[in-house]
Amino acid sequence: MLDLAPAHGRYTLRPVVQTDFDFLWVLKVATLKPYIEKLYGWDESQAKHILRQVMDKANLVLVDSEPAGMLKVIVEDNFMHLAEIGLMPEHQGQGLGTQIIRDVISAADREGLPVELQVFSANPATKLYERLGFSETHKKMYRPVGGP
Ligand SMILES: CC(C)(COP(=O)(O)OP(=O)(O)OC[C@H]1O[C@@H](n2cnc3c(N)ncnc32)[C@H](O)[C@@H]1OP(=O)(O)O)[C@@H](O)C(=O)NCCC(=O)NCCS
Repeated sequence: MLDLAPAHGRYTLRPVVQTDFDFLWVLKVATLKPYIEKLYGWDESQAKHILRQVMDKANLVLVDSEPAGMLKVIVEDNFMHLAEIGLMPEHQGQGLGTQIIRDVISAADREGLPVELQVFSANPATKLYERLGFSETHKKMYRPVGGP
């Protein structure tokens, strides 16, 4: 059983439930919409459909018992997949994301598993991931309909 227990008590985790949808939607719009909009265009009903799938087996990140973000980690046979991490803007840039990812890495180390994740090239989180020991292994390319 994966133990993602926070090391320092700065945040807590609990499983996402259906009634978290409204918070998670606000989080998605605040954090990922700019990237999705620029790359693929923003289709609200599709974005909500994807969010409902992403919510499955995800955790809510709580700070002072209040929703602050989301974390989803999937354990595969040979690696741990950091599938989602997102914090509300007011919780960003204060070291919380670093702490959460360090805790995921510690859990992976205990299981003897490497960690993988995906990130938009334009996302400044890339720098954070590199600081924590991640390096690029793949490049995903995309051609929009009617592109040059
Ligand atoms: C990515 C994220 C979880 C990092 O958590 P954090 O608590 O903000 O990060 P920390 O304070 O521990 O570390 C700061 C680093 O995070 C990155 N960062 C800061 N603000 C960010 C933002 N709005 N979006 C993405 N990365 C950000 C930068 O690399 C920053 O380092 P720098 O100050 O040297 O530029 C958080 O910023 C976030 O939720 N961003 C929006 C959602 C997102 O992009 N998720 C990742 C998808 S792969």
